[in-house]
Amino acid sequence: MKFFIDTANLDEIREAHDLGVLDGVTTNPSLMAKEGIKGRDNILRHYKAICEIVDGDVSAEVVSTDFKGIVAEGELLASIDEKIVVKVPMIKDGVKAIRYFANNNIKTNCTLVFSAGQALLAAKAGATYVSPFIGRIDDVGGDGLELIQQIVSIYNTYGFATEVLAASIRHVPHLIRCAEIGADVATCPLSVILGLLKHPLTDIGLEKFLADAKKTM
Ligand code: G3P
Repeated sequence: MKFFIDTANLDEIREAHDLGVLDGVTTNPSLMAKEGIKGRDNILRHYKAICEIVDGDVSAEVVSTDFKGIVAEGELLASIDEKIVVKVPMIKDGVKAIRYFANNNIKTNCTLVFSAGQALLAAKAGATYVSPFIGRIDDVGGDGLELIQQIVSIYNTYGFATEVLAASIRHVPHLIRCAEIGADVATCPLSVILGLLKHPLTDIGLEKFLADAKKTM
C-alpha cells in the first residue's frame, strides 16, 4: 500500500518524507489556499518545490471545467516535473480530458468521486488514480469504506490498471480498513500517518524498559 500525504504544507511533506514512508503527495485548491499560495507563477513554483522534496507522484489539481481549459492547464502542470499527476474532477469534460491525457502519457488522478459508477467511468477513461472521498461520504451519513470495497472489487474483477486512492481519510481506523480492503493508496493528513505510531502499551513498555536499563548501568 502506498502512503501519500494530503497537504500543500512543505514542512509537513518534509516531515513525512524524512520518516521514510512517503510515496507521494496530493493537493487540492483548498489545501493550496490554506498555505496562502496565490497567482499562477507562485502556484507552479510551489508544485515544483513539493516535487523536489518527494520521490513519488504529486497530484496537482486543475481548476478549469471545460475540456480545452482542463487540457491546457493539465499540460502546463505536467510540464513542471515528471512527478506531476494532473488531478481532474469527475465531470463530463473531465472524463474526456482524462482520456486525452491517458493517450498522451500524462498521469491523472480523477477526484471528487463519490460512487462506484463514477469510479468505473474514470477507469474506462484511463485514469492513473481514482480518488473516492471517504470522510465526506461519512459526513453525509453514507459509508465511505463500503465504496472503497465496491471499487476495489470492480477493478479486480475486470483487471483495471487504475489505482484506488482512498482520499478524505480522517483518522487511523479509516486508514487501517483501507489497507484491509486493498486500496492501492491512502492519502491522509500528517496527523493520521503519525497516528499509526501510537499505542499506549508501547509507551508503557518503553518506560519500563528504560527504567530497567538504568538498573543495569
Ligand atoms: O484531497 C482530497 C481529499 O483528501 C480531501 O479531504 O478532508 O477535505 O474531505 P477532506
